[in-house]
Amino acid sequence: MKEGDLELLNEIAHFEDSHNLEREFRIGWSWRHVRIWPATLNRLFKDGYLDNVFRSNSYTGYRLTELGRKIVASEQADETARTPQEQKLDLPADLFEDIIGHDEVKELLRACLTAEKPVHVLLAGPPALAKTLFLWDIEQSAGEKAVWLVGSATSKAGLWDLVGERQPQVLLIDELDKMNAADTAALLSMMEGGRLVRAKRGRELDLEHQIWVVAATNRLNVLSPELKSRFAIRQLTPYDRSKYLAVVKGVLVRREDVPAEMAEEIANRLDGRTQDVRDAVRVARLAPQLGVERAIKLLLGD
Ligand SMILES: Nc1ncnc2c1ncn2[C@@H]1O[C@H](COP(=O)(O)OP(=O)(O)OP(=O)(O)O)[C@@H](O)[C@H]1O
Ligand SMILES: [Mg+2]
Repeated sequence: MKEGDLELLNEIAHFEDSHNLEREFRIGWSWRHVRIWPATLNRLFKDGYLDNVFRSNSYTGYRLTELGRKIVASEQADETARTPQEQKLDLPADLFEDIIGHDEVKELLRACLTAEKPVHVLLAGPPALAKTLFLWDIEQSAGEKAVWLVGSATSKAGLWDLVGERQPQVLLIDELDKMNAADTAALLSMMEGGRLVRAKRGRELDLEHQIWVVAATNRLNVLSPELKSRFAIRQLTPYDRSKYLAVVKGVLVRREDVPAEMAEEIANRLDGRTQDVRDAVRVARLAPQLGVERAIKLLLGD
C-alpha cells in the first residue's frame, strides 16, 4: 500500500457513509464524486480495495470492497486506542500559589476545571493583573492535557487541526481578542462540544472528549456577543493600594530576587504613582545602577 492510500480510503469511506449508495450511486461513484484521480482509483481497484461496479466509455463506477472497509475500520480502532483516556484534571493544591490575592478567581477557576462538564472562563481586564500568569499555572499542572495558544499568533494550520491532533482537555487562549476569524469560528463550535465540521475538506470530527477553555483578554468590547456568551466572564479590576503593595513586594522578592527591604521601599515609593506591577519590576531592574529614587524619577518622570 502506498503512502497516503489509507487517507484516501478513509475519505472514500466517509463519502460512502454520508450518502445513500443504493439510491444515489447504484452504478457506483466516480472519481469526480470523491475528487481522486482516475489513475489512483484504478490502482486501489487493482490492489483489491475498490470494486468496479460499472464501466463504460464515459463512466467508471466504484465502491469500497470488504477489504477496503476492513482496512479503514482497523485504522479507526487504532485511532480510538491511541486517544488518551478521558481523565479528570488532577490539580495540585498549590496550583495558583505564585499568584498573590485574586482569591475568588482562583476558587472559580478550580471549580470550573474540575466540574463534570465544561464551564469556560474568560479573564478580562487591564494589563498586569496576572491574567497570563493564571493561564501559565494551569498549563504547568495540566501538562500534555493542555494546549496553549496566543490569539495574535495562532498557527498557520489553525485551531482546528491543532485540537484534532493534540486532543487537549484544556485550551488556554491568551489575547483572545486578537484571534483570527477562522479560529474564532472553530472555537465557537468547540466550546459547545460535539461535532465539528472541518471546512477544509468537508470532513467532520467528533471530539473524543469535551474541552475546557480558559482565556484572557484586555478588551471585551471587540468580542462578539456569541463568543462572550460562551464564557463565564471574570472582570479583573486594577489593584487598590494595599493589594498593589502586596503584589509588588511578592513579585519582586520571589521573581526578581530583590531583597525584601528594597522590595518594600520600591513598593512604598511607587504607591499612589502607578498601579502597574511592571513599573515596579522595571524600577527593581534599574535600581542597582541608579538607586530606587533615581530609577523611579527617570522611568516615571516627575
Ligand atoms: N497578583 C499577582 N501575583 C503575582 N504576580 C503578579 C500579580 N499581578 C501581576 N503580577 C506580575 O505582573 C506581571 C504581569 O502579569 P501578567 O503577564 O500575568 O499580566 P496580564 O494580566 O496578562 O497583563 P496583559 O493584559 O498586559 O497581558 C508578571 O510579572 C506577574 O508576575
Ligand atoms: Mg497577558
